Amino acid sequence: MPKPLANLNGQLMPLEQVMVPVLDRGFLFGDGVYEVLRVFRGKPWLEDEHFSRLARSLTAIRINGVDVDRLRQRMHETIKAGGFGESVVYLQVTRGAVYPRRHAFPNNATPLELLWVEDYDDTATARQRQTGTSVITHPDLRWHRCGIKSTNLLANVLANQAAHEAGASEALLYLPDGTMTEASHSSFFWVTHGHLCTTPHDANILPGITRIEVLRLTERARIPVRECYLKRDELMRVDELFLTGTTSEVLPVVCVDGHPITGGEPGPLTRRLQAAHNEAVREFLA
Ligand code: PDD
Repeated sequence: MPKPLANLNGQLMPLEQVMVPVLDRGFLFGDGVYEVLRVFRGKPWLEDEHFSRLARSLTAIRINGVDVDRLRQRMHETIKAGGFGESVVYLQVTRGAVYPRRHAFPNNATPLELLWVEDYDDTATARQRQTGTSVITHPDLRWHRCGIKSTNLLANVLANQAAHEAGASEALLYLPDGTMTEASHSSFFWVTHGHLCTTPHDANILPGITRIEVLRLTERARIPVRECYLKRDELMRVDELFLTGTTSEVLPVVCVDGHPITGGEPGPLTRRLQAAHNEAVREFLA
């Protein structure tokens, strides 16, 4: 099994040898953006979509001068150099390191470009995709620019930790008025009165790449989707519920806040979309 292999500003090195300056603004301010990609048999999945989102995140926080295509090339070189098959890429760009520490953008910072590739064992998640997983609900304590894939993840970390402490795997987040937004590191869909629904793409959610893929699969299968809001008090009455995310893929939810939903079993539409996703990956690898 290859060890995680990193690429720091174009230089290949074992992940454990990567050193980042303490003045890096990613470290001091969370002043950076990131992406996570799934790699199937050495081939990055939904690569165009991930790199377009990275470019949008960089523009949104005004980190300039990053050649996204060069990063993409480095990613391929790193996957190849490590001989990776089933794996995951983590990619992060920060505004760089400058002294003295000041909140406003420095004039002379060079962005720090880091990525690494590591083996990914899907066994545990694959099991959850069969049985379904448990979630909790948790206040959404994030800012109002959730469309940016920022490394500022404290609110997500606290919500996910609360889920783990409750014996669940994810936290579904809600605003003060009870509107559900998304999960700490996943998007979500639900089925109610025969309609498949998901939260609209607005400032309160990250435009998940897997969410977009699932929307594409539904279009192909002529399954209508409503983009609308779910209230926290409606959650227990949904007919189906599933999370989507880069490593989660299509992950059924069968328990919310300790109460079984959907009869404790993944629903039929969820199963259908799981199959459609698997088929799309098979086509991609063919
Ligand atoms: N998380 N919503 C949030 C807040 C996320 O952090 C993520 C991804 C998603 C799903 O997006 P995608 O389908 O593009 O993975 C939704 C990544 C995987 C992470 O933080 O590790």
